[in-house]
Amino acid sequence: AIRGVAARRIIDSRGNPTVEADVVLADGSLGRAAVPSGASTGAREAVELRDGDPARWHGKGVDRAVAHVGGEIAAAVRGRDALDQAGLDAALIALDGTPAKSRLGANAVLGVSLATAKAAAVSLRQPLYRYLGGEGAHLLPLPMMNIVNGGAHADNPLDFQEFMIAPVGTETFAEAVRMGSEVFHTLRRDLLAAGHSTGVGDEGGFAPSLRTAEEALDFVTAAIERTGYRPGADIGLVMDPASSEFFRDGVYEYAGEGVRRTSAEHAAHLAKLIDAYPVVSVEDPMAEDDWEGWRELTARVGDRCQLTGDDVFCTDEALVREGIRSGVGNSVLVKVNQVGTLTEALATVATAHEAGWTVVVSHRSGETEDTTIADLAVATGCGQIKTGSLSRSDRTAKYNQLIRIEEELGDAARYAGGSVLRRA
Ligand code: PGA
Ligand code: ZN
Repeated sequence: AIRGVAARRIIDSRGNPTVEADVVLADGSLGRAAVPSGASTGAREAVELRDGDPARWHGKGVDRAVAHVGGEIAAAVRGRDALDQAGLDAALIALDGTPAKSRLGANAVLGVSLATAKAAAVSLRQPLYRYLGGEGAHLLPLPMMNIVNGGAHADNPLDFQEFMIAPVGTETFAEAVRMGSEVFHTLRRDLLAAGHSTGVGDEGGFAPSLRTAEEALDFVTAAIERTGYRPGADIGLVMDPASSEFFRDGVYEYAGEGVRRTSAEHAAHLAKLIDAYPVVSVEDPMAEDDWEGWRELTARVGDRCQLTGDDVFCTDEALVREGIRSGVGNSVLVKVNQVGTLTEALATVATAHEAGWTVVVSHRSGETEDTTIADLAVATGCGQIKTGSLSRSDRTAKYNQLIRIEEELGDAARYAGGSVLRRA
């Protein structure tokens, strides 16, 4: 049973405050979880409670959320069975009492939800992925490694937010990390040689002063080849344009490129990129408010490219159901803090899998050293994770945890590679 719950204010990878929660059980087991934070957030995400006092933390303080954990939430969950995650999460949702967890804050609620699961795993002396996923959890995810940053994650003119590499053609997760690291360093050398900055953005990928997606894709493809890998067969390309960020009044405004595209033109542009490069997956190709555009693009390229909904679904099970019904994409990005409890995130995964959709477990652009999502990716068996570049400890912590899990599973471990991209 839960004996005590506490929280503190720590800082995330962008230097902003965030919530860290501790849950201690009667047997002394400690679970600790830190809450991540997005920059290009979806409109329907659960509410991250910020203090809004401009004199402190530029308004981003989380003192109220921290106080809610140590106060109301601690009082409500003390004595509860930590092994009953669904019951605990239902109690947290009821205690908050609002549709988007805006009263207590999804940052307060999620911290306790995750810390409880971790405490329960410690108590049972099980690794988290096994506690959540059972004895059968053995699938190491295909990583989508974000090596060029743009959009809201960097101060360069690139309109699209993320250009990623996914080592589809290898046998182990550890080898996938090696391949990613090698390409990352080749890309660094190539960018430097071309006179570009090799400073990195929020997710540890380079943030060169490029303007078009083609330029970024050319650099990445060349780096893959120069490292000795085959673009497509060994390493696939993945993009997250984060299209909601530059969709205004029904038009896609490419500020860096200096062009405006209608929904149909934007979709045609993406379809062209998907065909011209070995692109295996595109996240948020269309804006969250452009469901018609989403439907049209899915009908057009959904048979040959994974189309993953991030802002459009916000990890919300009901929105995912609506997306499945209306043919909006074929894959769901799962970010635990978009929905606020572990149980709700797992329900979204189950709904997607039942429909034959794929799932990508994901970090946020503001992260911490917490590695829960690495275990979650293995626990759900979803076979895909998006957790940034091959640099910066907030990103590499997740890769390193997956390396440890693969080692621990030994012969039972299986690396998903490219096989998961078409699940149905
Ligand atoms: P965010 O971006 O964490 O800043 O929202 C990540 C994404 O769009 O996938
Ligand atoms: Zn996204």
